[in-house]
Amino acid sequence: MNSNKSRILIVIMLVTILILYMKYQKAQTKLFLQSLDLKYLYERAMWHTEAVEEFYSPDITTETEPDPPYMQRSYKLQQTGNYQLPDLEDNEAELYFQSHTNIFFIISTIFQAGLAKLNPRQTCAIESAARSNPEWKVFVLFVSATEFSFFNSPNIVPLLPYPNVFLRRVNMTTVGLGSPVEEMFERGALNNSSFIVEHTSDVLRLLTVYKYGGTYLDTDVVVMKSLDELPLNYLVSEGDGFVANGIINLQASGVGHTLAESML
Ligand SMILES: *[C@@H]1O[C@H](CO)[C@@H](O)[C@H](O)[C@H]1NC(C)=O
Ligand SMILES: *[C@@H]1O[C@H](CO)[C@@H](O)[C@H](O)[C@H]1NC(C)=O
Ligand SMILES: *[C@@H]1O[C@H](CO)[C@@H](O)[C@H](O)[C@H]1NC(C)=O
Repeated sequence: MNSNKSRILIVIMLVTILILYMKYQKAQTKLFLQSLDLKYLYERAMWHTEAVEEFYSPDITTETEPDPPYMQRSYKLQQTGNYQLPDLEDNEAELYFQSHTNIFFIISTIFQAGLAKLNPRQTCAIESAARSNPEWKVFVLFVSATEFSFFNSPNIVPLLPYPNVFLRRVNMTTVGLGSPVEEMFERGALNNSSFIVEHTSDVLRLLTVYKYGGTYLDTDVVVMKSLDELPLNYLVSEGDGFVANGIINLQASGVGHTLAESML
């Protein structure tokens, strides 16, 4: 009887080890495929000579067509060897399609030479949102950057294999047009602010959910679970009894839109 029990135990242990080993192999294969994608990007950037019209798409290894409307995941390689960030407004269709599953991060830091950069904490926040919400689209909006470099933006590279991460730039001249802040942007009120980076981010997060609808997250928010469980239209307190603006979910129509409008 006892030896039977220990045999069953051994079989269970063996099966467990086998399952763990298979999971490990699967993860390794995935990492390998991702590194192939990155190798491709690296070589393109390294060996570009007269490349102007070349695109990088993290989807090159899959054969499935993207869902309509077409989502631009590719970044145009410039003659400088940097990749151009597509303009948010040039790709607005991708935002309206199922707008309740948009996630926005805003990077309003002012970069020298317009080269987008992220620090490890920001990358971690963005990656956590993308991983725990694979069905959602994660937009990283750069205010004063127009390009990223494979060599000089090291913390951007780990985000490139995620098919649901979209790096975009925001044109401050046009983004506010037709919104309640149009006049404020036009007279350059933000330019005079002594906290230009913070205030730009504060206005832009409301403007983004007002225009497109979705969830804004600060770049120090780590997402552990799917956001699907949460209701629509919420604001969050950081625990001091006051409503904070580090996490905002407002929809582009109805009560969410009205609230965003009055806050703008
Ligand atoms: C922003 O938009 C204005 C007006 O359309 C345009 O003149 C300007 O070149 C744009 N800026 C960038 C960085 O594309
Ligand atoms: C605000 O500052 C930016 C950059 O310094 C400049 O391009 C823009 O023209 C300014 N806007 C106004 C309205 O002064
Ligand atoms: C910005 O500051 C300058 C100098 O202090 C001032 O003359 C100008 O009116 C201010 N502009 C706005 C839009 O507040």
